[in-house]
Amino acid sequence: MARNFCCEILPEIMKRWSMRALSPEPLPHYDITAICEAARYAPSCFNEQPWRFMAATSPTDIERLRSFLAPKNRRWADVAPVLLLILAKKTFARNGKPNRWSSFDTGTAWGYLTLEAWRRGIVAHGMGGFDAEKARSELKIPDDHDIIAMAALGYPGDPAKLAEEFRESEKPGERRPLPDTLLSPDHFMR
Ligand SMILES: Cc1cc2nc3c(=O)[nH]c(=O)nc-3n(C[C@H](O)[C@H](O)[C@H](O)COP(=O)(O)O)c2cc1C
Repeated sequence: MARNFCCEILPEIMKRWSMRALSPEPLPHYDITAICEAARYAPSCFNEQPWRFMAATSPTDIERLRSFLAPKNRRWADVAPVLLLILAKKTFARNGKPNRWSSFDTGTAWGYLTLEAWRRGIVAHGMGGFDAEKARSELKIPDDHDIIAMAALGYPGDPAKLAEEFRESEKPGERRPLPDTLLSPDHFMR
């Protein structure tokens, strides 16, 4: 596998990757707002915009969100100047019915967010390794909100300061070839 691209695409898509070496340098409030603004423009089913981002930027809020992270994630993400908890509202505001596309739409918004962050020289690194139930109970997150992921945001840091266990994988992730993703409609019928 390789990170080779067969055609020209948006440079942010081509270049973005999830660094773990982050700098503790605070992020300008304007950039944090702009990154979330990019997510705001993502398409969603019935334009419901089911995504919600709980952003921790103050020491107290960061400490609170940090406490949900899996120990392995804390070993690199503890320095991040911004942590996000990403939620998806599971029901349509328009009629209260289940919105089965809420995770799909929230993932789209997350993708937009990562690209705008990258454009601004900021890394947005998603994390599934955290205690969602602890987050739900401590933050009193209602049942009609799925807890999707967390994310660490920060400027790229010094890879030499990363814990040894992360050094080898500190590079852009590889991708499987496009034909493995782009399936013909009879793929599963064969
Ligand atoms: C939903 C989600 C959960 C992830 N969970 C973790 C995690 O818990 N810890 C971690 O270090 N990286 C995590 N990642 C980062 C992925 O490992 C990374 O995006 C993937 O390997 C592709 O690499 P790239 O983003 O550098 O292209 C997560 C990413 C996503 C989108």
